[in-house]
Amino acid sequence: MSTVIRNENAVKSRRFALDKYRLIKQIGQGGCGKVYLAKNIVNSEQCAIKRICTQTAIANKYLADEISTMKAVKHIPGVVRYIDSFKKQETTNIVMEHINGWNLQSIVENLELEERVIATLCKSILKSLQQVHELQIIHRDIKCGNIMLTNDGETKLIDFGYATYCPEGGHVRSGKIGSMFWMAPEISQRKPYNEKSDIWSFGIMVMEMFLGDPPYYSTDETNEFIVNRLAQGDIPIVDSMSSELQEFVQRCLAISPEDRPSAEELLNDKFLDSAIPLTDVSHSVAQNEDRLK
Ligand SMILES: Nc1ncnc2c1ncn2[C@@H]1O[C@H](COP(=O)(O)OP(=O)(O)O)[C@@H](O)[C@H]1O
Ligand SMILES: [Mg+2]
Repeated sequence: MSTVIRNENAVKSRRFALDKYRLIKQIGQGGCGKVYLAKNIVNSEQCAIKRICTQTAIANKYLADEISTMKAVKHIPGVVRYIDSFKKQETTNIVMEHINGWNLQSIVENLELEERVIATLCKSILKSLQQVHELQIIHRDIKCGNIMLTNDGETKLIDFGYATYCPEGGHVRSGKIGSMFWMAPEISQRKPYNEKSDIWSFGIMVMEMFLGDPPYYSTDETNEFIVNRLAQGDIPIVDSMSSELQEFVQRCLAISPEDRPSAEELLNDKFLDSAIPLTDVSHSVAQNEDRLK
């Protein structure tokens, strides 16, 4: 038995063995389910399994979209690679590559990032987002918590739990969906929207990289109040940001979706000129790993 299985967080393998996979330990907990490090017992390869309880019809609808969009984007290098999915009793299991690295939320909460590091991460994330959008898929939950930085110096977009298809040139209409603070105005106002809503969330995420949290996060206002405030264009000006970074964020946070650049257009923004090799970023995070909670 490997040392990992003896870990105190280890899941009792007899109880949880899933035919072809053995769960090793829990590695993530999101709003929708738990994520485990697991091992394929046939070929001994490690993987990650997201387990989601599917008792309601609405959960099933989102899950069907999560699985079909994950399958559609699995060839994109900057996106978590889907492997398999299966249902066991009331639980749906999504098997994917196990990403060795760090969640970007824990990085931004615990380390202060220089602007050239932010530019480096943005450049890599935008390349993945551009490819996702080319397939007419909107992620709808872009935020640091849904990005991983790998030990090898890559970024990986994860969590397609809210992703959906948007027909070319068309719009999606749904209720409020996504995470409140990162939500584009057209979504919080229940208007039709398209992939440009991801660009808004991306802009909020860039502020999150700089501040450690999305704007207004630590104020006493209610979530609803903050979302309305942001949706009206009341974005706090952060004096300590360079003018290049301020302009980059402002472009993403245009109130009207048509005024926001596409991911492809943003890749030419001058703020990204300061990007360094992503491997330098992952090396420096590795050196500061003890500061990540
Ligand atoms: N493939 C993976 N490899 C390693 N860690 C992962 C993987 N997928 C998810 N995680 C971890 O689990 C957490 C929750 O996963 P996520 O898909 O975001 O679930 P939720 O939909 O519940 O937010 C992530 O924030 C991340 O830290
Ligand atoms: Mg998530």
